[in-house]
Amino acid sequence: MSMKRRAFALALVVASGLLLSACGKKEETASGRSVGPDGSQPVYVVGSDAAYAPFEFETDNRQIAGFDIDVMKAVADKAGISIRFINTPFEGIFNSLVQGDRDILISAITITDERSKQMDFSTPYFEASQLIAVPANSTVQKFDDLKSMKVGVQTATTGDEVVQKLMGKNNPSVKRFEGTPLAMKELEAGGVDAVVADNGVVVNFIANNPNAKLRTVTDGSFPKEYYGIAVRKGDAELLAKINKGIDAIKADGTYDAIYERYFGKKKS
Ligand code: ARG
Repeated sequence: MSMKRRAFALALVVASGLLLSACGKKEETASGRSVGPDGSQPVYVVGSDAAYAPFEFETDNRQIAGFDIDVMKAVADKAGISIRFINTPFEGIFNSLVQGDRDILISAITITDERSKQMDFSTPYFEASQLIAVPANSTVQKFDDLKSMKVGVQTATTGDEVVQKLMGKNNPSVKRFEGTPLAMKELEAGGVDAVVADNGVVVNFIANNPNAKLRTVTDGSFPKEYYGIAVRKGDAELLAKINKGIDAIKADGTYDAIYERYFGKKKS
């Protein structure tokens, strides 16, 4: 390349760079957070596995929506932080946070001791528990009855954990699915005899699929679970902002309004 051409090429690169920054192009930092070209406010990248209605799902025009999404937006608003959502499969979701591809996770994630070693959780924002789904004509009455059956779970969830405890880690009768709706569909099709998953999602699926002819079975042995928002271990500043946001939306009625939109009036 001649000197002239090189200078021209350089000018072109500089110009296009300017053009991009003029368009407000965001740069991804190593941490996954995007920062404006002038070093302005970071945009935190939020991962959520949007196949988990009513907590997170994709609308017809592929927007991520749901209870968790509304909670996260309201929390971010109170915390004064900018966020954007990326649909992220549950199986890889914790890794995506640890690796820095996501900064925040909200995905109906149960706070567990094991997970708390890997990441930091906000104060709980939702109480849940496992729930069993079976065909309406099933004989199942309690969790223990599933022992000799084919049971569907979503991989790496707390449902997967409780079923492993009952049936053994490598039991071939435990059928693992990439998503809870897939497990429910398989139950509907007769490929498994039961599904164990978070109560909110099971109830939602059955309500929206009356033709599937399913019913639920509760069991006293299922522990209470609490959903938390996760950040990278040691990301204390961000976590403090999120916790403040959660407190604020609980205090001013925003949380209850979101809750009612998805679950109806709170029984208390
Ligand atoms: N609460 C369960 C867990 O933390 C299931 C969460 C699944 N979430 C999702 N968006 N698929 O293991």
